[in-house]
Amino acid sequence: MKKTMTLKTRLLTGLLLSTALANPVFAQTDDQAMLDRGKYLVKLGGCNDCHTPGYLLSEGKVPESLWLTGDSFGWRGPWGTTYAPNLRLLMQTLDEDEWLEMARTLKRRPPMPWFTLNELDTEDLRAIYRYTRHLGPAGEPAPEFVPPDQEPPPPYALFPSPPQ
Ligand code: HEC
Repeated sequence: MKKTMTLKTRLLTGLLLSTALANPVFAQTDDQAMLDRGKYLVKLGGCNDCHTPGYLLSEGKVPESLWLTGDSFGWRGPWGTTYAPNLRLLMQTLDEDEWLEMARTLKRRPPMPWFTLNELDTEDLRAIYRYTRHLGPAGEPAPEFVPPDQEPPPPYALFPSPPQ
């Protein structure tokens, strides 16, 4: 009797242990895959080019801890002067569904390629969200938009007026 109990107990313990171990492991692999995908998309999608300070001019040599913290480099054109916002702070204010809604309907001034963001599929948008949230909040908000009739402080890139 004692032996049977021991065997049962062992089997049960083994079963419980493997279930307990298996689930977090699977979950972690899933999460890691989403984070990797998010990082890949942020790099390939050019988000860092504008939303990470100094990224373009340093050939991408900006520590990941500063990625997507926004930039005070201005983009000046007929629309005024825009600044790429701090996405690390933005994501803290949104839950995942709010982000999906925002990204699918987003429309902003140049040079934000919002029309490309609108077309990303749901899993890609989720991956970008989770990766950016995973990096955590950091940095300051980017400068406020400057209307077309006002001179922004340097540095900024000046776009020519579009042809009439
Ligand atoms: C060529 C530069 C550029 C690239 C590339 C770019 N952005 Fe932007 N983004 C901007 C600028 C500038 C703004 C602000 C536009 C404005 O003020 O109307 C902006 C605005 C946004 C906003 C709106 C934020 C808010 O609070 O209103 C989101 C979200 C965003 N970008 C996400 C992304 C993501 C994700 C990527 C990569 C897939 C990306 N951007 C690529 C320049 C860029």
